[in-house]
Amino acid sequence: MADGRLAGKVAIVFGGGLNTGGPDGVTSIGAATATTFARHGARVVVVDRDVAAAGRTVDVVRAEGGEALALVADVTDGEQVQDAVAAAIDEHGRLDVVQNTVGATRLGGVDELTLADWQRTLALNLDSVFLTAQATLPHLLVRGGSMVNVSSTASIRWTGYPYPAYAAAKAGVNQLTRSLALQHAARGVRVNAVLAGLIDTPLVYQQLAGDAAPDRVRAERDAQSPTGRMGSAQDVADAALFLASDESRYVNGVLLPVDGGLAARVL
Ligand SMILES: NC(=O)c1ccc[n+]([C@@H]2O[C@H](COP(=O)([O-])OP(=O)(O)OC[C@H]3O[C@@H](n4cnc5c(N)ncnc54)[C@H](O)[C@@H]3O)[C@@H](O)[C@H]2O)c1
Repeated sequence: MADGRLAGKVAIVFGGGLNTGGPDGVTSIGAATATTFARHGARVVVVDRDVAAAGRTVDVVRAEGGEALALVADVTDGEQVQDAVAAAIDEHGRLDVVQNTVGATRLGGVDELTLADWQRTLALNLDSVFLTAQATLPHLLVRGGSMVNVSSTASIRWTGYPYPAYAAAKAGVNQLTRSLALQHAARGVRVNAVLAGLIDTPLVYQQLAGDAAPDRVRAERDAQSPTGRMGSAQDVADAALFLASDESRYVNGVLLPVDGGLAARVL
């Protein structure tokens, strides 16, 4: 499989389903990551709460000759996460890579959000990483491994969108990443995060666009990027591939911006 950067490894991708809610050709970060891992030789386990979305990713991997298994779980439910990990271990007997991709924005300032809105946003973006870490670490510790968490520029910067719950949750993901990284470094488990910037995925059109037409949303976000274009799900997946593979064997506890320079800019 390709150059086999993940040959022999088993990767579980939480939120690995292919969301088709955006314009044609726009794909989700988890789906791009699962497909990329498979192209590089990993056997992938795609976990998503949406059975059809998980199935679509698995179909893409299999059509390319890769190996993939679809599992349904809501990552905010600890029991479902434990069951999914147990099913992955039953199937493959090992786990080497854990990719945490589930997340979603929740627009609204603290004057607009209810406590329940706030808590749901933290559960989806932050509790989910706690629960998947709890379920997968015992398996990663067997022979070492890599966890990659998808965070956001919003975890370290004001991005122009009023979503304090999302920003706070992703900031929590960053520090959970570092904490896990240091606690388990001596036993060969690395934990890193990618801080995705303005990425062209279905989420953008479903959660941030409001009533605006897709072309306008795309043009505005392209213009906000230092490079003049949004990143793609593949841009994030390629960074995750590096962090998942042994090429990053001495990279640990890193928060890697994948944002075309956005986080480095003053205005
Ligand atoms: N798109 C961006 O510009 C951008 C920027 C920064 C960070 N991110 C982050 O990237 C990650 C992926 O975003 P995306 O844009 O690809 O999103 P997406 O909505 O396209 O895909 C998310 C996937 O997660 C699944 N999912 C949602 N809730 C779930 C749950 N509770 N349990 C299991 N699966 C669940 C969905 O079914 C979907 O398949 C998120 O963490 C997001 O916060 C995105």
